[in-house]
Amino acid sequence: MTMRVLSGIQPTGRFHWGNYFGAIRQYIELQHQTPNAFYFIANLHALTTVRDREELAQNTLDAAIDLLALGLDPQRATLFVQSDVPEVSELCWLLLTGTPMGLLERCHAYKDKKERGLPADAGLFTYPVLMAADILAYDSEVVPVGDDQVQHLEVTRDLAASFNHHFGQTFVLPKAKVMPAAARVPGTDGAKMSKSYGNTLEVFEDPKSLRKKIMRIVTDSRPMEEPKDPDSDHLFQLYSLFASDGDRESMAALYRRGGFGYGEIKKALADVAVDYFAAARTRREELAGQPERVRQILADGAARARAKAAEVLDRARRACGLVY
Ligand code: ADP
Ligand code: TRP
Repeated sequence: MTMRVLSGIQPTGRFHWGNYFGAIRQYIELQHQTPNAFYFIANLHALTTVRDREELAQNTLDAAIDLLALGLDPQRATLFVQSDVPEVSELCWLLLTGTPMGLLERCHAYKDKKERGLPADAGLFTYPVLMAADILAYDSEVVPVGDDQVQHLEVTRDLAASFNHHFGQTFVLPKAKVMPAAARVPGTDGAKMSKSYGNTLEVFEDPKSLRKKIMRIVTDSRPMEEPKDPDSDHLFQLYSLFASDGDRESMAALYRRGGFGYGEIKKALADVAVDYFAAARTRREELAGQPERVRQILADGAARARAKAAEVLDRARRACGLVY
């Protein structure tokens, strides 16, 4: 299969279990199915929220190190930083000139902020167009994303189709590959794990502080003897992310039988989670000591990505009369 796969992830903080099981793991699996997987660190998008120079720069490098440590293989997939491909920003302008205001007014990030009476800037408003440029710049066919990004994929298809209609066939229409809602990882309070809710467990959190956080996971206060339904319990859902089928089944049986304390399960969760990421943690330590090697991987990735983006941008420039 040679389908062109692309996805981006924002460097807005350290990756948590939701990011790993909901997104990063799929990126890594897909790199084995196609030689054309492009993954980038969306620092231009992060600039709409991270307004601190050191923080953004550090987050960007950390995101690259994390992805590599987790198994993203730069020999198979192309890993780069969004802003290292300036063609995308130019393409964004070409798309913006034909973007109806109403289309962006309906997009949820902007709409939610406005409904809450918060001030929004043009960066947030036009965020989906930059995302469309990211996708269209590489003739991407398949875009693995969470269900919160499906709307942005629809905007991308709309903008591409309308450009093609107006100026002639230029862009490939991409398809979203939506990660199933079942893959939604709960946080320590049982709500969806998210940086914005402060309920995250980080992939590379130091094991000691991770254990502490796990011990504080909110559980219900029913008596120990009572049998419980494992599937509706977020502690069980978290455990299931890491456990083998056999261990998951024995844990489920324990829930149904009752008579256990949540403390034991939390301890089992901490053990299995620390173990699961142990090899990646070692690789991360090595990579963190070699920032130049990581920068070189990103530079090589950007060179490959730019070659493709330049080809698509040239097509788009010609199509709309910028080549005279
Ligand atoms: P956050 O909500 O913490 O800010 P992002 O919105 O930056 O996370 O998400 C980055 C990627 O991780 C997206 O593809 C998103 O779908 C996925 N993701 C984030 N949180 C979860 C979760 N709790 N469960 C599954 N996937 C998630
Ligand atoms: N908006 C995406 C998110 O917050 C990140 C992103 C930016 C992206 N550009 C993209 C994802 C292009 C897929 C394709 O998760």
